[in-house]
Amino acid sequence: MATIVDIRGRKVWDSRGRATVEAEITLKNGRQGRAIAPAGASTGAGEAKSIDVAKAVAAINGRIRTALIGSDPRDQATLDARLVKLDGTADRSRLGGNAIVAVSLACAHAAAAAARKPLWQHLAGERKVALPVPQIQIFGGGAHAGARVDIQDYMVICTGAGSFAESLEWTAEIYRAAGARMARKGALQGVADEGGWWPAFKSNEEGLAELTGAIADAGFKPGTDAAIALDIAANQFYRDGRYRLAVENRSLSAEQLHAMLLSWIERYPIVSIEDPFAEHDAEAMASFTRTAGSRVQVVGDDFFVTSAARVAAAAAQGACNTVLLKPNQVGTLTETLACWEAAKAAGYGAIVSARSGETEDVSIVHLAVGWGVPQLKVGSFARSERMAKWNEGLRIEEALGAAALPYPARKLFRRLGQK
Ligand code: PGA
Ligand code: ZN
Repeated sequence: MATIVDIRGRKVWDSRGRATVEAEITLKNGRQGRAIAPAGASTGAGEAKSIDVAKAVAAINGRIRTALIGSDPRDQATLDARLVKLDGTADRSRLGGNAIVAVSLACAHAAAAAARKPLWQHLAGERKVALPVPQIQIFGGGAHAGARVDIQDYMVICTGAGSFAESLEWTAEIYRAAGARMARKGALQGVADEGGWWPAFKSNEEGLAELTGAIADAGFKPGTDAAIALDIAANQFYRDGRYRLAVENRSLSAEQLHAMLLSWIERYPIVSIEDPFAEHDAEAMASFTRTAGSRVQVVGDDFFVTSAARVAAAAAQGACNTVLLKPNQVGTLTETLACWEAAKAAGYGAIVSARSGETEDVSIVHLAVGWGVPQLKVGSFARSERMAKWNEGLRIEEALGAAALPYPARKLFRRLGQK
């Protein structure tokens, strides 16, 4: 058995030039596992808390190292439980959510390295797997673009593509077509935090018209070949019971926001809407899911914060129908997997997601494939912290070859977006 003989934490830097934490685990046979914690900008209130990077690194090199040395890295659930207990807080603020997620992921990498398997294969075991369907950002807004528009992500899903590779080919065309449209308008201002075009729009709806136009400009049929996914990230512009759309200089009640989103669904090829209301408003989420849930995915991000208990509670109420899975939101890999299990038990869909602050770490692609999560969201189609993940998906698709389950895009989205 290859036990853990060393754990090292170090300070590294993320895609926003902010410090973050890397954990490196060494096994008795010399094999290693390594992972880096990402960081959000539009975080939910119930998330695991990242702490000062120097303190998180010290926690890894001190208490965590002492607690885990001599353990078997294959026993992920036991190791994660030990991390949770050692921290002892509800929000992971003692050892740090950043320290804990880096160590938890590094353990999984070490176990895969010990088995001489890629992480996705180590996680999948004997199960057959497919590549997940990407949601790829074309315009970035909200907290990722200086609130230039209120909506955070305008994304594309290549619902008609026959493979992961093909969906990237199509997205490349759409991304470039969107950039060309903005250049023609004199509105090209660079890229936002996740690589999407920085939007110089006069209204939130203009982004929908531009994205639909870009899909068509690229030679695809909007709604058939490629459709729109939105992350409203409504927490970010909710204050005192109102949703304040700064770019349009108006404020909406939950009912008015609900009506606005329905009118968008009527007029644009939208198949997925994330965090349409503030994180505390389960009633608004449930009401929207009742009305729109058969036509679009209603995705909870800040609303669920990757908590299995929150998913179970929301399911009892009929709030949302799809869960965003972000390991650093909940803390450990085991808890992330529990949330995916809760989603399946509720009949909900799921999307593995990166954060707005990312690195070259590609662990989440392996989680999506290995766990059989059918969708993946890692930002846009530019900046290497994003492209590293899409490119890893290409390598996995190639390695799977004919052993892969059918690519799920057409089946997943066949019934969505229909009027
Ligand atoms: P965050 O945003 O990483 O800044 O929280 C990503 C998202 O809202 O999906
Ligand atoms: Zn989100």
